[in-house]
Amino acid sequence: MTDSPPVCDYEGSDYQTSFWDKGGRAYEDKVEEIALRRMLPAQGSLLLELGAGAGRNTPRYTGYERIVLLDYSRTQLAQARERLGDSPRYTYVAADVYKIPFVDGLFDGATMIRTLHHMADAPKALAQVRRVLVPGAAFILEFANKLNLKAILRYWLGKQDWNPFSLEPVEFVALNFDFHPKAIRQWMTELGFRLEKTLTVSHFRLGILKRLLPASLLAAMDGLVQPTGALWQLTPSVFVKAIVGRDAIPAASASHNIIDCFQCPECTTHPLINRADHLDCPGCGRKWAFRDGIYDFREPLA
Ligand SMILES: C[S@@+](CC[C@H](N)C(=O)[O-])C[C@H]1O[C@@H](n2cnc3c(N)ncnc32)[C@H](O)[C@@H]1O
Repeated sequence: MTDSPPVCDYEGSDYQTSFWDKGGRAYEDKVEEIALRRMLPAQGSLLLELGAGAGRNTPRYTGYERIVLLDYSRTQLAQARERLGDSPRYTYVAADVYKIPFVDGLFDGATMIRTLHHMADAPKALAQVRRVLVPGAAFILEFANKLNLKAILRYWLGKQDWNPFSLEPVEFVALNFDFHPKAIRQWMTELGFRLEKTLTVSHFRLGILKRLLPASLLAAMDGLVQPTGALWQLTPSVFVKAIVGRDAIPAASASHNIIDCFQCPECTTHPLINRADHLDCPGCGRKWAFRDGIYDFREPLA
């Protein structure tokens, strides 16, 4: 088994309820919706949503015919399945972003929202994303920005040790990282992505403003200034839209059946043999469960 960076495990977490539904984050949710609307292609065939969680953003991906929700947490995916239901449009996959269980060059779109900030090895995670995309695919990435105004002020006032201007990620809580926009741009460019658009998001994430003004008004104001992200990025959250260069891995023969596109996350053998309640890997002999509507590539069956 190959070594992989540690994972921030949301198994059993009430994240969707406590952070979003009851967490007073209507403003943050709305500004993400605006940014996604600006960045999502009008049409697409197969989208990979990385760190999909409970599927909060999935209904926004209206242009795509099929969506694979990938998350390490089975319980988050179970919530997503409850929200979205079973249909040929959705596939639920429990797996590690560092070991995406799909063949190279498969998806023509991907999103990764509020997930990179859990990656101790962000370039490794981004390389995996790039591996499974076809040339010309659009990748929408949200990352937590260490160069945000609050961090800069705190640093100048001597209230914060870490330097927001330096390029390395900062781990402010275990397995929670903020990134420098320039570092993100460098990694993406090295991986063969062309950055098409940058939006700054959550300009008004201040308790007092959120208390005084309705979320919809604050979000509309945010929407007006998001395009300034092309010039500078000083907000806590940044969205980038990147396109895979045409010299990337050629497209896999995109099968209509998603099961034919799985590869073993451990030994990369493809195809896996479908046994209805599990998938057999003919390369290493591991068995990967399919239960309660979720393909589970976390640990093999005993
Ligand atoms: C903050 S939540 C965001 C969920 C969703 N994108 C949203 O914005 O509502 C982060 C998600 O990333 C998932 N995650 C963290 N590390 C992961 C990894 N290495 N592989 C797959 N998923 C991961 C967690 O399980 C969690 O559901």
